[in-house]
Amino acid sequence: MLGTGYLGATHAACMAELGHNALGVDVDAKKIEELSQGRVPFHEPGLPEVLSRNIEAGRLSFSTSYEDAAKFATVHFLGVGTPQSKDGLGADLSYVYSVIENLVPLLEGDHLILGKSTVPVGTAEKLQELADSLTKPGSSVEIAWNPEFLREGFAVKDTLTPDRIVVGVNTHREHSKAEDVSREVYAKAIANDTPFIVTNLPTAELVKVAANAFLATKISFINAVSEVCEVAGADITQLAEAIGKDDRIGPKFLRAGLGFGGGCLPKDIRAFIAHAEELGVGQALNFLREVDDVNLRRRQRVVDLARSTAGGNLEGRKVAMLGAAFKPDSDDIRDSPALEVAAHMASEGAQVTVFDPYAMKNAQQKFPELSYAENTADALRGADVVVLGTEWKEFKELDPQAAAKLVNQRNMIDARNVLPLDKWRDAEWTVISLGRA
Ligand code: UGA
Repeated sequence: MLGTGYLGATHAACMAELGHNALGVDVDAKKIEELSQGRVPFHEPGLPEVLSRNIEAGRLSFSTSYEDAAKFATVHFLGVGTPQSKDGLGADLSYVYSVIENLVPLLEGDHLILGKSTVPVGTAEKLQELADSLTKPGSSVEIAWNPEFLREGFAVKDTLTPDRIVVGVNTHREHSKAEDVSREVYAKAIANDTPFIVTNLPTAELVKVAANAFLATKISFINAVSEVCEVAGADITQLAEAIGKDDRIGPKFLRAGLGFGGGCLPKDIRAFIAHAEELGVGQALNFLREVDDVNLRRRQRVVDLARSTAGGNLEGRKVAMLGAAFKPDSDDIRDSPALEVAAHMASEGAQVTVFDPYAMKNAQQKFPELSYAENTADALRGADVVVLGTEWKEFKELDPQAAAKLVNQRNMIDARNVLPLDKWRDAEWTVISLGRA
């Protein structure tokens, strides 16, 4: 497994859990050191147990050496990051190219590289050309694409029992082994009737971005309707429940609120837009710009609500931000809506105190200008406005009576639409939520 970030560390550990011998390789020596000792460098429920169990069983190890990877395996998964590039909307593919440049010249015999990273359509074909130019005489390296659909917080379950496996193979290649080898690797899941979809390379690459674009669109759809609910006096949570009963629509990903963040949805839709433009079909994905705009508007809306709740000016006002992770059960703060709102309010002069059950260290590193509390009660103490920015269980279950004793003023902005409004209003809180009357 080349790359041991969120995806790679989970995939390596789960491949070992399925009975394979796995080696995780990364250029980050600190990460490899931690993983080797059975420590997961991020918060993911269930992963520490799978990691330690398989290290102890001798099926899983880690290394910083590509030589080790070349000698260890004939099947290589590529799972390095493809972040948004610094100078535009597109994806930065430098880590992906670097894996091929470093690994392929070392390979002897017949090898298969299964790409898992989210890449623009056409990348796998270019990587195959590059690999062909670097392959040792007498050896062969085939590149296929096997996108990953795991969700943070459910990464182990999604990897061990995925809802589908997609493998894109190069249809022009003679003697392609990609399908047969993938069937062996995923034999257990296939035996359990997991749909196994074999397709060409561009389709596999597009399946991944299309899935994330659809999810993002679904969230922005409900958030756009929630903007209308706010002025019309309607309730977005009841509306979502009602439309979700139609199984053509479905209830999932219809939670209105502060919108989507994280390391995937925002950058994937932007990369999709940018690449469609390069391909000359930019118009087809113009709606995704609106999806992005609706999403970012929610963050601005929460800042505006906090300001008006504070009497029109945030200067010197105390704000408690409950949540820093981009979603609960994760310590990932990449493009976190809660933190962006916190930073924005601080830039307007508010004294913002943040608390998150797991993401404090990451948040402090990225936003040292914010204050951080030891626990929820500390964050609430003396607050003029409270913002619920990430729907952790402990925030959803907060006791409004107890919270009332800590704050300066009982103002709650429920930016995730998760609080029982009646209970909070009975305790004489002013609760503002996004799209609920
Ligand atoms: C997402 C996809 O769900 C995975 O299938 C995909 O594999 C992954 O990206 C990836 O590309 O690697 P993830 O980023 O872990 O997974 O998070 P999601 O559970 O999709 O949530 C994304 C964001 O949407 C979060 O900020 C969440 O709070 C928000 N969200 C989600 C809503 O605002 N409303 C909803 O109804 C659902």
